[in-house]
Amino acid sequence: MRSTGVEGIPLGTFRTTEGFVAGMAAAMATSSSMHALQLNGRTRRMKKETMRAKRIVLVRAQAEKIDGKAIAAKVRQEVQEEVRQMKAAIGRVPGLAVVLVGSRKDSETYVRNKKKACEEAGIQSFGTDLPADASEEEVLAVVRGYNDNVDVHGILVQLPLPSHIDEEKILGSISIEKDVDGFHPLNLGKLAMRGREPLFVPCTPKGCIELLERSGISISGKNAVVIGRSNIVGTPAAMLLQRKDATVTVVHSRTPDIPFYLKNADIVIAALGKANFVKGEWLKPGCAVIDVGINAVDDPTAKRGYRLVGDVEYDSASKVASHITPVPGGVGPMTIAMLLRNTVDGAKRCIKQATN
Ligand code: GUN
Repeated sequence: MRSTGVEGIPLGTFRTTEGFVAGMAAAMATSSSMHALQLNGRTRRMKKETMRAKRIVLVRAQAEKIDGKAIAAKVRQEVQEEVRQMKAAIGRVPGLAVVLVGSRKDSETYVRNKKKACEEAGIQSFGTDLPADASEEEVLAVVRGYNDNVDVHGILVQLPLPSHIDEEKILGSISIEKDVDGFHPLNLGKLAMRGREPLFVPCTPKGCIELLERSGISISGKNAVVIGRSNIVGTPAAMLLQRKDATVTVVHSRTPDIPFYLKNADIVIAALGKANFVKGEWLKPGCAVIDVGINAVDDPTAKRGYRLVGDVEYDSASKVASHITPVPGGVGPMTIAMLLRNTVDGAKRCIKQATN
């Protein structure tokens, strides 16, 4: 249940009118004569009559929607321009190889979208589709072939792999110079270490950070909570936030009281894969929410019989947060944009090394 202050002002995020401290304000609690306002992280009490005299009005604010589609389009434009310049300067373009094993519908869609995005950016697209019963040796042979191909600067093996194939073995066989997914243990290990630089950072968490930074949200010194600890998103997201000087807490399916951690979080990255799990009332007013979840929920009114929702209950969260990503149209488009970014960066590094 939402808490409600005296005079019917519910707890939540408010903007103050001019004449008061600019920025985000949150009405934390009210008494009959006082408002307790949290302004830019500091609590300030003010008598209601003072507020009236100063003509300060609290206006309920809706969180700013972080438009991942628009930010991703901008990144893709930047990448396309770099590819064009590279072609004009040296007559070469970056190349990305995508390996798909099996015929999972979701993986097929992701792979198709990745190849299409490459072509639009001017990146040369390579691909190998293997049947679900392909042997581990066959997959390794394909990876080795791309490792040796000088026109391929990035290699991506779509996950999950069929259960008879050892994911660790396959990911470890990708040349770290071409590991555009950033899943090679050496790249992930360097990401975890101070004073080391991974050659590539995993695309989805990198996209989350890009969304925060391009939305003007500072990370340094903030409390960040990452929900989920997967190798693909949660763990690298936590490491990236820590590298940006946030104080990071990782919570997960075995954490007994997730709201306890969220109430102090300035930044929330939700990546646990549970529809509408995070409720607005768990959040710290004015926080930034990055929702990585993409969950299908039944919806008889939708054309396909379902709709996509995130891990965060958007309607309640957007009344408390200062910034929030929608689903779809938030993190999703950024994953592909970051893959293109990584491929171009990898190609530049490869070509520079080869000419030195
Ligand atoms: N499966 C789900 N997300 C990803 C990703 O970012 N990269 C790869 N290779 N597989 C995935």
